Parts: sequence; structure tokens; C-alpha cells
Amino acid sequence: MFAIRCVLVFLLAAVASTRGANILGLFSSHSPSHLIIHMSVAKALAEAGHNVTVVSMMEPKIKHKDITLIVIPMDEEQELILENQMTEMAGQKNSLVSTMNRLLNDMDVMIKAQADLLSDPRFQRIYETKFDLMILGYFINDFQLAVAHKLKVPVIVDWMSAPIPAIEQFVGNPSEVAYVPILGTAVSHPMGLFNRIENLAKSLLFKGIFFAFDIKLTRIYKEVFPEKDQPSLSDLRKNISMAFVGSQLNSEGPIRPLVPAIIEIGGIQIKDKPNPLPKDIDAFLNQSTHGAVFLSLGSNIKSSAVKPEIIQTIFKVLSGLKQSVIWKWEDLENTPGNASNILYKNWLPQDDILAHRKTKLFITHAGKGGITESQYHGVPMVALPIFGDQPANAAVMEKSGYGVALDLLTITEDSLREALKEVLENEKYSQAVGKFSALYRDRPLTAKQSVVFWAEYVLRHHGAPHLQSPAVHMSFIALNNLDIYTLILTIFVLFILLTRLVGKLIWKKIWGKAKISESKKKQ
Ligand SMILES: *[C@@H]1O[C@H](CO)[C@@H](O)[C@H](O)[C@H]1NC(C)=O
Ligand SMILES: *[C@@H]1O[C@H](CO)[C@@H](O)[C@H](O)[C@H]1NC(C)=O
Ligand SMILES: *[C@@H]1O[C@H](CO)[C@@H](O)[C@H](O)[C@H]1NC(C)=O
Ligand SMILES: *[C@@H]1O[C@H](CO)[C@@H](O)[C@H](O)[C@H]1NC(C)=O
Repeated sequence: MFAIRCVLVFLLAAVASTRGANILGLFSSHSPSHLIIHMSVAKALAEAGHNVTVVSMMEPKIKHKDITLIVIPMDEEQELILENQMTEMAGQKNSLVSTMNRLLNDMDVMIKAQADLLSDPRFQRIYETKFDLMILGYFINDFQLAVAHKLKVPVIVDWMSAPIPAIEQFVGNPSEVAYVPILGTAVSHPMGLFNRIENLAKSLLFKGIFFAFDIKLTRIYKEVFPEKDQPSLSDLRKNISMAFVGSQLNSEGPIRPLVPAIIEIGGIQIKDKPNPLPKDIDAFLNQSTHGAVFLSLGSNIKSSAVKPEIIQTIFKVLSGLKQSVIWKWEDLENTPGNASNILYKNWLPQDDILAHRKTKLFITHAGKGGITESQYHGVPMVALPIFGDQPANAAVMEKSGYGVALDLLTITEDSLREALKEVLENEKYSQAVGKFSALYRDRPLTAKQSVVFWAEYVLRHHGAPHLQSPAVHMSFIALNNLDIYTLILTIFVLFILLTRLVGKLIWKKIWGKAKISESKKKQ
């Protein structure tokens, strides 16, 4: 009896040691779509009984009664700079490189504000609590790793889509540029010579950009943490226990190696069961006899930042459809126009609408979050990308056969009408995305279960150094065996030189002797 009781007490203690941990979520990315992903991670942990404290720069849409929120907004001046930059970006073509360049220069408030936050008194208060784990929402904010160092807790980095070079570097994941297209470029496999040249060039370009970021981040880090005994930023990077990434490559591709410290939690933001829709939206969808089209250009860009002509083009086409249309539009006083088949709303439960059986098509700006939800629910798409990773997301989506991508800045009534007709009437799109949906959901653990299991794993073992790839601690030269190649090349060159030298000597000897004997003969 006593033994059983002992075992029970022991078991309870073992459970209690990971349940009810104090977890800090530091989510200072100034992007609502990133925050949704990070908050979904926090929520999964809160639902599993942990005491989660979240620091963010804006009020998150996803909340939970057991999550303590500390919202520390940007100052007004920074906010203004950012808004101007976003509006500027909506009016032009933006490549990933130009977006990165902007982040490095004109738009670097997005980085600086994340450093300012650390010295805010509202933030400083977190040091009074004893935490067990920190989750860092990644957005070019490596210097925030110092918070975990101060708290003496392990860190899990959370990134909102498939692993990017920075995340790979944290955990020592191989990049495999010969067949892994960089940041979701659409290619056919096996990659031909030109595709590989392009991919290698892009990958080097990104290395260059991240090198520039690194200089900036290291400078900021030294400014914010000037103490002498502070470890270097690169040492802190080598102490990351795990990375959660918002992908599920088994179904999304590309198929590639991932080290055990990368945990895929793609689709974490999607509810296991959709919430009931608000009454008016539900009724609107229910009475649509031909199904419904859902239009949302995302949360970063206000609809009003898109040129009025483009909005009018979209309105003319949508008001002529026989399908019902739900349009996400912020300014309900000034809508693009009245039409009996269009319902404007300034906030919409995107996931729940996409889950509705009447939703036949999603018109999206091709943000990673929206595309993932649409794919999860098997809804085909028409993509109108604007900037950042959106054009690449749209291209991959189109290549996968889940819909059609157009360029938002150059759409015409005809091109948009054609695209909508094609995706609504040709069944191949809904079939392809339906097939994907079935694959995407077929996993050993749901995204939520993965988050809870692996976070508790890190808690139980106080970090996960045993999972770490040795590559993390190797230099670029050693990791790529460049020293060995140099050695082999040197030996080879030496061998050739030596052979030539010896050859010359022998030649001279024989020739020399011949000459001598010849001259002797002549005498
Ligand atoms: C939960 O976290 C908050 C900090 O946000 C802290 O004040 C509180 O003491 C924690 N609760 C427990 C039970 O540790
Ligand atoms: C919409 O239809 C569903 C299923 O047919 C039903 O359960 C729901 O109550 C309907 N909603 C409204 C507002 O009519
Ligand atoms: C649309 O209808 C509302 C009232 O239903 C009206 O206030 C508004 O002016 C109309 N807008 C346009 C562009 O006709
Ligand atoms: C490295 O992480 C462990 C927890 O995993 C922590 O205890 C330790 O203080 C960290 N070291 C540094 C230098 O931050």
C-alpha cells in the first residue's frame, strides 16, 4: 500500500513538474499575421495548463483567459513611419530582396522598436517572475535571446512559415540549395542547371543580406546589453533548444532533411472545430444558392491603401457574379459600392468562413496564413499578392494547382473575371486542393499536440542540447569541408610541382650525360 502511494506521489510530482510551468512568450513582431501564429502556440500551452505570459506590441486577436498579456505598443512616431512605409509598398512592385533592403534601412523601426521594448519599465517587470521557458517569436530580433539568458531559461524560437536560412542556422539544418528552392520559389524537380544557378545565387544573396542584418543586430545587442560578462550574440544563438516552424513539408513540399530540433507545427492557427459564425454572416452564406466568394487582402495593408481604380475593377467584377461575396473592408462608411450580392465587414473570422461548406473561392493577398487556412479547408484560390513573401507564395500555390495568381497592380476587369470563372468552374482546382487538404491533416500529432509535447519535453529536460546538431558549433569552413578540399588541392599542386621538378632533374641528367658523352665523342 505504502509503495503504491509512493509511486502515485512520484507520478503526480513528475506530471506537476511539467504541468503548470511559467512560460514567457516574447512576440514583438509588428505583424498581425505573425502574432496570430505565435498566440496560437501560447494558447495551446495555456490550454494544456501552463501559466503563459505574453509580451507583444499590439493587442492580439487570439486570447485566452489564462494568458497574461503585456502590450507595449510602438511609440507614435515609429508607428507613423511604419504606416507610411506600408502604404508606399502597397503602391509598387516589391521583391523579397527590396523588402529585406527596406527592413534594413527605411523600415528598420521594425527592428529598433523590438530593442526599445526591452528597456521599457512595463517589460522590465517580467524579471520579477521566475520563468521556466521562453518562446521567442522570430522577426530579426535575435538580440532578445538575451532575455532568456537573464532569466536562465531554455528558448524555443517560433517562426511562422517553413524554415528560412536564419532559423536553419540556429539549429544547424542543412540548406541543400541543389534541390530546395529558396523561400518558396516555384520550380520543377529535378532542378536544371539554370534553376540551380539561380537558386545558388539567391541563396548567396540572402546570406549577404543576413550578414548585413547580423552586423546591425550585433550592434543593437551591444547597445542594449553593454555589460562586460554578457555572452556574445552568436553564443546565445548556439543555445537555442528548438525551433517551431509553420510548415508541414510532408504535404507541402519540398521534401528535404530537417534536423530533430525543427518541429513542424503548420496550421497551428486553425481550430480543430470551427466556431459558429456570427448570425448575419451565417445567414448570408446559407442563403447563397450558388456558393460564396470570400475576399480578404490581409491585415497588414488597409484596403484603402490599394489604388481606387484597382478597387473599382475588383468591385465591378465581383458585383457581376452570381455567387455571394463576403469582402473584408475596414471603412464601412466608404465602401467600394453597393451590390445585392456583396457583404462588407471590417473584421471577419477568416478560418471559420473558409470552413463553411458554401465557401467556394478565396480571393487572397497570398499571405502564408490565409493560404494555409484555405488549403486546410480545401478552398481553391485566386491570389492577388502585394509584397514580401506573397508573390512567391502565390506562385507556389498556382504551380500546385490550387488556383490562379494575378498581379494586383496590373489586373483588369477581363483578367480578374477570367481567373474567377476558371477557378469557380473548372473542378480541377477544388479537386487538387481537396487532395492536399486530406494529406495535410494526416499526421501523428496535431499541430497543437506537437507544441505541447515538445515544449514540455524542453521543460522536462531543461533544454535540449542532446538534440542539437553538431553543425551549430562548426565554422563555415569546417562545415563545408573547405579545409579538406584545400588540403587535397595543395597536395595535388605540390605533387605536380614536385613531379615536374624531379622530371626536369632526371631529364637534365640524362640529356646532360648524353651531351657530355657526345662532346667526348667529338673530341
Ligand atoms: C503566472 O504568471 C504571472 C506573470 O505573468 C505571475 O505573476 C504569477 O505569479 C504566475 N502564477 C503562478 C501560479 O506561478
Ligand atoms: C445555416 O444552415 C445550417 C445547416 O443547414 C444550419 O445549421 C444553420 O442554422 C443555418 N443558419 C442560419 C442562420 O440560417
Ligand atoms: C450604399 O447604401 C447605403 C445605404 O444602404 C448608402 O448609405 C450609401 O450611400 C450607398 N453607397 C453607394 C456608393 O451608393
Ligand atoms: C543556455 O540554455 C540553458 C537552458 O537550456 C540555460 O540554463 C543557460 O543559462 C543558457 N546559457 C546561456 C549562455 O545563455
